Amino acid sequence: MCGIVGILGNGAAAPRLVEALKRLEYRGYDSAGVATLERGELKRVRAEGKLRNLETRLADHPLHGAIGIGHTRWATHGRPTENNAHPHASDRLAVVHNGIIENFRTLREELAAKGYRFATETDSEIAAFLVTDELAAGKSPADAVYASLRRMRGAFALVYLFEGEDNLLIGARQGAPLAVGQGDGEMFLGSDALALAPFTDRVAYLEEGDWAIVTREGAEFRDADNNVVQRRFVKTPAGGLLAEKGNYRHFMAKEIHEQPEVIGHTVAHYVDMGAQRLKPFDWPVDPKSLNRVSIVACGTAHVAGLVGKYWIERFARLPVEVDVASEYRYREPPVDKDGLTIFVSQSGETADTLASLRYVKDNGARSVAVVNVATSSIARLADAVAPTLAGPEIGVASTKAFTCQLVAMAALALGLGRARGVLSEADETRLVGELAATPGLVAETLKLEPAVEKIAQKLSTARDVLYLGRGTAYPLALEGALKLKELSYIHAEGYAAGELKHGPIALIDAAMPVIVLGPRDPVFEKTISNMQEVSARGGRIFLIGDAHAAEEAAVTLESFLPMPDMASTFAPIVYAIPVQMLAYHTAVIMGKDADQPRNLAKSVTVE
Ligand code: AGP
Repeated sequence: MCGIVGILGNGAAAPRLVEALKRLEYRGYDSAGVATLERGELKRVRAEGKLRNLETRLADHPLHGAIGIGHTRWATHGRPTENNAHPHASDRLAVVHNGIIENFRTLREELAAKGYRFATETDSEIAAFLVTDELAAGKSPADAVYASLRRMRGAFALVYLFEGEDNLLIGARQGAPLAVGQGDGEMFLGSDALALAPFTDRVAYLEEGDWAIVTREGAEFRDADNNVVQRRFVKTPAGGLLAEKGNYRHFMAKEIHEQPEVIGHTVAHYVDMGAQRLKPFDWPVDPKSLNRVSIVACGTAHVAGLVGKYWIERFARLPVEVDVASEYRYREPPVDKDGLTIFVSQSGETADTLASLRYVKDNGARSVAVVNVATSSIARLADAVAPTLAGPEIGVASTKAFTCQLVAMAALALGLGRARGVLSEADETRLVGELAATPGLVAETLKLEPAVEKIAQKLSTARDVLYLGRGTAYPLALEGALKLKELSYIHAEGYAAGELKHGPIALIDAAMPVIVLGPRDPVFEKTISNMQEVSARGGRIFLIGDAHAAEEAAVTLESFLPMPDMASTFAPIVYAIPVQMLAYHTAVIMGKDADQPRNLAKSVTVE
């Protein structure tokens, strides 16, 4: 996750850019840089490491322009060197980028064939040359940016500065946040309102797919189809980052929408995006010596463990047992001293999970903690940590932490497979590519929110709801039911679709919505059959599947949510989004407190 900022000001931009970047250092600080226009000419200063190195560099090489862009980096593609530091530039423009451009290799080859020469190992440089190429074809800066946005896939935010244009910045948002700040005769862009707080408290947020043409006179917002749209400037609340919900009504909504960015950030922690290979993981035990793996967690984290079971068994060829911590800790299970137990916890403080970790350590076995809080008790006690880089999760219901836990589980499964010599290099590259595609797919799925709200209207009057799924969609059915229960207080159950005929099918009637999670995976046809069983008994089916799933189901659907086409391996990471949005909107429609549901706590530090 990186921090980006842009200033269209009346005084020297460079010092103000640095001030804004200091507020964005929580997003990463491998390197930093600024670019300004001096009499229309682009000037850049960059430095490796912390922001103070950039300040030192600027003291020796001051920049004087009143318009500029700045960046603080958390490296995803390319080592954290000065040369890879943003802003990246061509002879026509400079750009700062936050996120991942998934198809950068294809675009790089295309641009290289046109004679462009790249100076860095980064995907961001592609953004600079794509627009440069469009400018060379005679387009205006705005048309050139728009044309380039339609070529790039992934989850990213960008701000462009153009040679010779000292009253123009262009920003774009596709899966990573970007805000526009309004001053007196000045305008600003930044990753969040916190960065812009020194200059203005009037901020408008770009929505998914938006881009903005900004001059000192104001901002023109356009959507992904280039239509001019209105985005409201709102007064941002005083106080720090945590007081800031952005333009969202609840932290949960904000955190659902942060997922493309934080999933991308977590993927990039485990994956060398340039080489499309896994980064090495420091296993506390030799994976070749393992006979099985245990996974212990609670609640939504336990669901992440259940999904991880499918992936570890499939890619590492190891049997996996998954337990809820509150049972594990009292069952006194035999612990294999040469075994490995993975503990999953957002907070890293859940009492039952922590107690189970202590039990495993007392029995001399090794552990890995998948945690979101690096300084937490579980993180400090485990032999190794596989972090989720979701950032602070304020909403009590776990959303972005869950999908980042899935990313970590996927990376651990692939890593175990490679280390045990049962996953080929070719399969590693293919699967890593599929994992790297998830941020963009999640950004696409978030656009379905209006359709999800319509479905939530129907759920909000239900007394009972059934979620069905097969394969890795089965744990997701459990998560869907948990989310709906904990947010709307409607009773819901998640079931393995194949289990329906062994009892729960007696529940089917016109009163009970049945949510079917149907990614196009190897068991999709079986899921369709289960759906037909429900339909034959007058059940109300709400299908979540890809564009062709509805016609293939060949049953009457009460609603259908068309998900993006995708490889099915890591579908749970993407299919978690509609499940989360469904629970959130149902709760909001019912007037429940989505951030702090009754009887719950964010971290259950008691038994
Ligand atoms: C998630 O939506 C729930 N609020 C809850 O089940 C949570 O996942 C569980 O309490 C575990 O918390 P942890 O991940 O911090 O250990």
